[in-house]
Amino acid sequence: MCGIVAYVGPKQAYPILINGLKRLEYRGYDSAGVALLEEELLVYKTKGKVSDLEEHVQNANLGGTIGIAHTRWATHGEPNQVNAHPHFSQSKEIALIHNGIIENYALLKQELQTRGYVFQSSTDTEVLTNLIEDIKLNEGVSLFEAVRIALNQVTGAYAIVVMDKNDPNTLIAARKGSPLVIGIGQNDYFVASDATPIIEYTKNVVYLDDEEVALIRRDKDLKIKTIRNQEKTPYIQKLEMNLTALEKGGYEHFMLKEIYEQPTSIMDSMRGRIHLEQGTVTLGGIIEYEQKLLNANRIIIVACGTSWHAGLVGEYLFEDIARIPVEVEYASEFRYRNPVIYERDVVIAISQSGETADTLAAIELAKSKGATILGICNVVGSSIARATHAGTYTHAGPEIGVASTKAFTAQVTVLTLMALRLAQLRGTIGRSRFMQLITELSLIPEKVEQTLKVSKKVIEIAEKFKDVRNFLYLGRGYNFPVALEGALKLKEISYIHAEGYPAAEMKHGPIALIDEEMPVVVIATNKGTYDKVVSNIQEVKARKGQVIAIVTEGDKEVKHLADYVIEIPETEEMFVPLLATVPLQKLAYHIAVMRNCNVDQPRNLAKSVTVE
Ligand code: G6P
Repeated sequence: MCGIVAYVGPKQAYPILINGLKRLEYRGYDSAGVALLEEELLVYKTKGKVSDLEEHVQNANLGGTIGIAHTRWATHGEPNQVNAHPHFSQSKEIALIHNGIIENYALLKQELQTRGYVFQSSTDTEVLTNLIEDIKLNEGVSLFEAVRIALNQVTGAYAIVVMDKNDPNTLIAARKGSPLVIGIGQNDYFVASDATPIIEYTKNVVYLDDEEVALIRRDKDLKIKTIRNQEKTPYIQKLEMNLTALEKGGYEHFMLKEIYEQPTSIMDSMRGRIHLEQGTVTLGGIIEYEQKLLNANRIIIVACGTSWHAGLVGEYLFEDIARIPVEVEYASEFRYRNPVIYERDVVIAISQSGETADTLAAIELAKSKGATILGICNVVGSSIARATHAGTYTHAGPEIGVASTKAFTAQVTVLTLMALRLAQLRGTIGRSRFMQLITELSLIPEKVEQTLKVSKKVIEIAEKFKDVRNFLYLGRGYNFPVALEGALKLKEISYIHAEGYPAAEMKHGPIALIDEEMPVVVIATNKGTYDKVVSNIQEVKARKGQVIAIVTEGDKEVKHLADYVIEIPETEEMFVPLLATVPLQKLAYHIAVMRNCNVDQPRNLAKSVTVE
């Protein structure tokens, strides 16, 4: 979603800002803009990509050592040049960029209109810009004070950076609900929605907290206050990310790179956590909360999108081996449906970005009811990582492709480790079974490596089905979430309609769709409900559907029934999602490439959904 970059220091701002916007492209956006201040405060913006902005400013004056830049994902008002950020205030003295939604903007706008303000755009952001200007002029205060006072009148979410034509040395940044990071260089400052634009200049960063406003001045120390005027001491942290993780490294797309990184990312999620010699699993981040987990009535998992699918695998795992009841909730539903939450509930929030607005809100709700909140996040230092009582990082490394791949398998790996640890503590599985499971789990990276070799078959299937309009994905037990995730991947990046279903539910509706045109992907590995899934395949074949089956190496039965078969290595039933997801990611990828879709930045989608 919207991306923010800002700079003040000795260097020319424009190249840093454009470079930063390119690093943030992965978040998803539909217009871009930049404001620079030398003698004049100049704003350039355009609909489309950052490359369109670069073209648009080709002959413009781009001088200045202070500036702000933005990629916009439209909420209020269509994606066009007028609605793009930065927004000028009425006098054109203040420019502002914003990520989030000002919920009471209509009321504020009316008030400002009665005082003579005229609005150019349909955005909530322009309202905030003029509110700040109005306060600055009427109350005769500094820009910093005006921003602080204005934010007390605002409801909703924001990450903003503001600059003033009359002060070429100062940026004001503030956040609530939407992320903002300040990078502290040698003698310059960077501000961004996440650390990716900052990492090549400095590793020292300050994450702003909700309702904090930062005064960022050339050659002066950083000052932070809350919007209620309380001074805060900036807490400087070191970034662990490295630059190569943000490059494509020879792959055509980030998504493909990330699919191929899975043997390593799964390994990194397990590193130091499985101890085969001692026969134990440890998760350092939640060690102090193990007792709470042990005493929990139930676990509630909250998440969105792919992370929700990982949560479903978690439900099967926790119930299967740790015998503890689990509910998996869409964060967006949970937060508004007045759920019953007990103090003895443990809520696990799963989020790759750690910034998803609905997941954050679900956490706050559960916290207010006294529950213990644990996080499973990928982005270190993210809002969700900080809002939870404790948590476990997935360590999958930066995920840039909008369609989540390696983050999913890393989340499932961490959930598996949690379930195993809990099972061990609760004594719900015996020692030899536990040993068997952790030994097999430690072999999964190798088996994923093997699974990645299915390219030829996957490309053949992609060729055959790239032009169809619908796909159905079926799975049972642990493979049901895999079916959902496979279908989601396909629709996200290829825009083919795809549905994931529990295989047995097919007869309650989707079977009506099946004819010779309809490809049905069935995850039919040789464990659990295999025989029943074989019957489901027969039901599809009886209606002339085309079956693409994911089977265990050496499978004979399904091979005779299915039109196409992709083999994955033998493993424990509960670890199959870690393998079976991989060919489905690749299938979606190849189909999308064949359809000339923008794989890494699919239309309308955002990587980090910071508005509800
Ligand atoms: C967006 C992304 C998805 C992601 C979901 C949840 O929709 O495009 O890939 O699964 O948000 O994001 P989170 O960062 O909380 O895992």
